[in-house]
Amino acid sequence: MTASVVVLISGRGSNLDALFQAEAASSFRIDAVFSNRDAAGLSYAHARGRPGTVIARQRGEDRERYDQRLRLAIDPLAPDIVVLAGFMRILSAPFVAHYAGRLLNIHPSLLPAYRGLDVHERVLAAGEARSGASVHFVTADLDAGPVLIQGVVPVLAGDTPATLSARVQRAEHTIYPAAVELVAAGRVVLADTAVAIDGAPQAQPFTAFFDEDGGLLEWPDTLPRCSSV
Ligand code: GRF
Repeated sequence: MTASVVVLISGRGSNLDALFQAEAASSFRIDAVFSNRDAAGLSYAHARGRPGTVIARQRGEDRERYDQRLRLAIDPLAPDIVVLAGFMRILSAPFVAHYAGRLLNIHPSLLPAYRGLDVHERVLAAGEARSGASVHFVTADLDAGPVLIQGVVPVLAGDTPATLSARVQRAEHTIYPAAVELVAAGRVVLADTAVAIDGAPQAQPFTAFFDEDGGLLEWPDTLPRCSSV
């Protein structure tokens, strides 16, 4: 069975593009894309003939009311998974609870380190030797839900936030489709606050390693690779 996926974006949409590219070799299909603004990434949906819709915040609208409208747009599609791919809004607790266990996010750090914004600036200022990205289930606490997969990249001397971000993003484009596939195939479930893989509690996230160009070095044996990027 093919899992139905809805993706929420706010920007460039390179992760959305990677997910689209992975669809053919996976058990999920992106049935709709929503953005809170006129995001460039919506063009990836339009290019594939899938609905890409802007749901902008209305004047004076508070977070919960916006999230309610977003839910009303998403729920008729009855998605199995809702994927946040650079969606730059903090979601309210009722929204998160409504999609519990089927809401995924990608964050450009090795969580639990560097939650929040300006990650690359902070990683460089701290002199870290490595950084990366984490795909996690979304729970009520910001960037704090259980992590499924991490992609680790080296931090190089002379890196700027832009060069580090580009390397991390290449890793994202490989790990995000794999994470969505794990959930789509039913191999991973969120049980309470922990992740279960193939019926057993996941002791630690799957970890993939990438080189200085963001090319893949090492991939966990038991993890499907459905990414074509
Ligand atoms: C990614 O770096 C992701 O980690 C963060 O937002 C960025 C989205 O990039 N949450 P894109 O729009 O997918 O290119």
